[in-house]
Amino acid sequence: MLKINQSIDQLISENRILAILFDRVVSSPFYDENLMAKIKDYINTYLSFHKDNEIKPKDAYYRFMKSYKKDMTAFSKTGKYPLEIDPTRLAPSRYEYDVILLLSCMLADHRFRIMQIIESTCQNSQNGLFIGTGPGLELELVKSKIQNLYAYDLSIDKFVYHQHPDINFREEYFDGKNDSLQYDQVYLIELLEHLSNPYELLEQCIQVLAPNGKIYLTTATNIPQFDHLYKFESDHKDYENQVQRLGLKIEFMEDIPHQSITLDIGAKNRFYILQKK
Ligand SMILES: C[S@@+](CC[C@H](N)C(=O)[O-])C[C@H]1O[C@@H](n2cnc3c(N)ncnc32)[C@H](O)[C@@H]1O
Repeated sequence: MLKINQSIDQLISENRILAILFDRVVSSPFYDENLMAKIKDYINTYLSFHKDNEIKPKDAYYRFMKSYKKDMTAFSKTGKYPLEIDPTRLAPSRYEYDVILLLSCMLADHRFRIMQIIESTCQNSQNGLFIGTGPGLELELVKSKIQNLYAYDLSIDKFVYHQHPDINFREEYFDGKNDSLQYDQVYLIELLEHLSNPYELLEQCIQVLAPNGKIYLTTATNIPQFDHLYKFESDHKDYENQVQRLGLKIEFMEDIPHQSITLDIGAKNRFYILQKK
């Protein structure tokens, strides 16, 4: 059984593989102690909230690493994502998914870097929209800068409501139809690859974007995660043409390669900040 209030530091120190992954993030060129402290605090609060859960966080993360390794091997042979190979493939529970998302921010340098870009580029503003908010770490990193926050996901854990009582949550797919607000910033972090047509969502976001408003988003290339649908090309030429056609200009772009311990399949995220022209 998980010890009551076991902290993330204890968890890492007691599990050699997690400790090795953590050390790799700590020795990455963009490592930042302050951000890591915030991530740890958030994870500790989450683990304490869920201290009675039967599934140990370590087991959830090990299960994910094992299945991702298998999916990478299949992808390197077939070029197919898991849902193309088996459309009935089930996603983990909300709790297990959130544990994976949170721990990966400490254990995978690409996730740490994504959170770092969010924290460092967020600007003071009035209205912010997050679609695909997951366990809510991004909200924690920006909430002191954005006055009114709105966040969507298909399902949202009780912890997220408890941790962010001032944020307006909706457990539904965002299509902009019931939304009369104008947002200064819209965040689509690790979301677009979950959709069969990401450009449709981008158009809906542009409709609710204030003049000169910005969209902060990531894309995913060669990441055969259990629930990914859309494959972004490595050079992003088609993607960049499409976003410019939709009336967005590229203000910032950074490639974030994945440092895999097992297979090099060219997995990477790209972070974009796009501004309404
Ligand atoms: C990879 S997670 C990213 C979560 C969070 N942004 C992060 O980086 O930790 C993707 C999230 O998008 C949500 N999601 C998937 N499809 C969605 C959709 N059509 N509308 C809203 N959320 C969606 C999932 O439930 C999941 O929480």
